[in-house]
Amino acid sequence: PKMIYLTRHGQSEYNLTQKIGGDSSLTAHGEEYATALAAWVHKNILVDNPRARLWTSTLKRTIETGKHIRHDEIMLDGQPWIVMRPREWHALDEIHAGIFDGMTYAEIEAADPEEFAMRKKDKLGYRYPRGESYLDVFQRLDTIIHELERQRDHVLIIAHQGILRILLGYLMWNEVKDREECPHISIPLNTIKCLKPHAYGCTCDSLCLLK
Ligand code: F6P
Repeated sequence: PKMIYLTRHGQSEYNLTQKIGGDSSLTAHGEEYATALAAWVHKNILVDNPRARLWTSTLKRTIETGKHIRHDEIMLDGQPWIVMRPREWHALDEIHAGIFDGMTYAEIEAADPEEFAMRKKDKLGYRYPRGESYLDVFQRLDTIIHELERQRDHVLIIAHQGILRILLGYLMWNEVKDREECPHISIPLNTIKCLKPHAYGCTCDSLCLLK
């Protein structure tokens, strides 16, 4: 692709109550980000690039974050073209926390201190009971990386903290030298990361669109 834009969904109900996983909706603040993001995307991407792509996960919070980005039909080279038709990917769903899905970190630590300590010790390799590890996420993002390589236009991805850490690590191999670093990469809310691919990895600019 020409450019890859990465962002987390806007603030969700679970972000507010500090629960992990789940499939909650956006809060009012999250809605505000969805509006700010759409305005930014229209002005900075869609005006000159009507063929740009929008990818989300299958979870409500990413779909809701993308919903103000218009996807009307325009005529392009004499053909009707759906602008920014969103594509929902299971491969972009957040890391699955298995039996701990829907709990806070404090609740997990209280319920099972051993598991909690194991994750702290090896965040990359640790697999949640009946859930996933970051290494599992690396594997399922292979599909996304392949599909990204085939795209000739800009791609905007609205996904999740864990997913974007790994995607960023993959794409920024010029800077992220060790997979161990990936689970610790900071991906704040309300921020868009603009990646420009070059022969050796990517350069990256971060823009905060909402306080
Ligand atoms: O808290 C938001 C969230 O996206 C959770 O759904 C997910 O489990 C977590 O972040 C991933 O971050 P970490 O690997 O640091 O727990």
